[in-house]
Amino acid sequence: MTTTITIRRPDDWHVHLRDGAMLDAVAEYTARQFGRAIVMPNLSPPVTTVAAAQAYRGRIMDAVPQGADFIPLMTCYLTDDADPSEIARGFQDGVFTACKLYPANATTNSAHGVTDIRKLTHVLEAMERIGMPLLIHGEVTDSDVDIFDREAVFIERTLVPLVRDYPALKIVLEHITTADAVDFVEGSGPQVAATITPQHMIINRNAIFAGGIRPHNYCLPIAKRERHRLAVRKAGVSGLPSFFLGTDSAPHEIGRKQSACGCAGIFNAPFAIETYAQVFEEEDALDNFEAFASLNGPAFYGLPVNEGTVTLERTDHVVPGTLGEGETCVVPFHAGETLRWKLVG
Ligand code: DOR
Ligand code: ZN
Repeated sequence: MTTTITIRRPDDWHVHLRDGAMLDAVAEYTARQFGRAIVMPNLSPPVTTVAAAQAYRGRIMDAVPQGADFIPLMTCYLTDDADPSEIARGFQDGVFTACKLYPANATTNSAHGVTDIRKLTHVLEAMERIGMPLLIHGEVTDSDVDIFDREAVFIERTLVPLVRDYPALKIVLEHITTADAVDFVEGSGPQVAATITPQHMIINRNAIFAGGIRPHNYCLPIAKRERHRLAVRKAGVSGLPSFFLGTDSAPHEIGRKQSACGCAGIFNAPFAIETYAQVFEEEDALDNFEAFASLNGPAFYGLPVNEGTVTLERTDHVVPGTLGEGETCVVPFHAGETLRWKLVG
């Protein structure tokens, strides 16, 4: 039985680090495991300018422990009136790594998102020209579309035409949750990829309602039926270059989750790499773990792989019920459960 795993230092290609006290509380978890992270821009107000991204990057660097081997990669939040020249300047100056498309009102802090992708024509043309990736929250927002169908309908209505109209645009379909998304990515060229979260490999929609409502298993896109979980899990452990690690760790203070109208988001950052390792082990796919966690993402983004390594050891440990205090008290994914792998170096 394998008892230690050493891989190139991984990256998290999708994380919410928040701001203020929450940023100070959570940044260390991501910086401990990952060499780089694509940081989501859905702050309030959102990060829409080069100056705002530079300032936010500075606050993140102040929040991570001194000497951490960690670089935040910043993203620009697209709005209906996003400015192509500001975006291109940010990319060319190395401030923006990518743009994030939230359909308006799809999820947390997406009220300023895009109401109609046709409003982005000039932005998308510029991004395609300069090779800047577009990261997509792929869900339609129509209230008449069932919440469990919103990803599949988005693929059909928006993504298929987008890939046809911008054949060279680099696209990451974020946090995929369905067999439809897996099929779409596998059927597209190498310019289309997807990130996969730990939770969407581990839980199906029953976990949100197991013996009562479980707000800490609620995120968006919402977990789907078992057959979708199995398809996403298979894609994740496949080693295929178009699938890579993105935790979508999204902390919300405990009272904002355990509420009559609880926020979407699963806080998985503290033990993310351990959780993924467990999935790869269960699938007898540890040989593909490094590709998923540390190699496929940099290859897609055109970045070098990280220099260092991380080592995990097979040691049972129990995930705390909560982490932090007061306004930063959060319930981590797998609270109270035992994980089999532990990051040791
Ligand atoms: O569950 C989610 N939480 N999904 C998102 O897309 C946003 C995130 C957040 O910011 O809380
Ligand atoms: Zn997210």
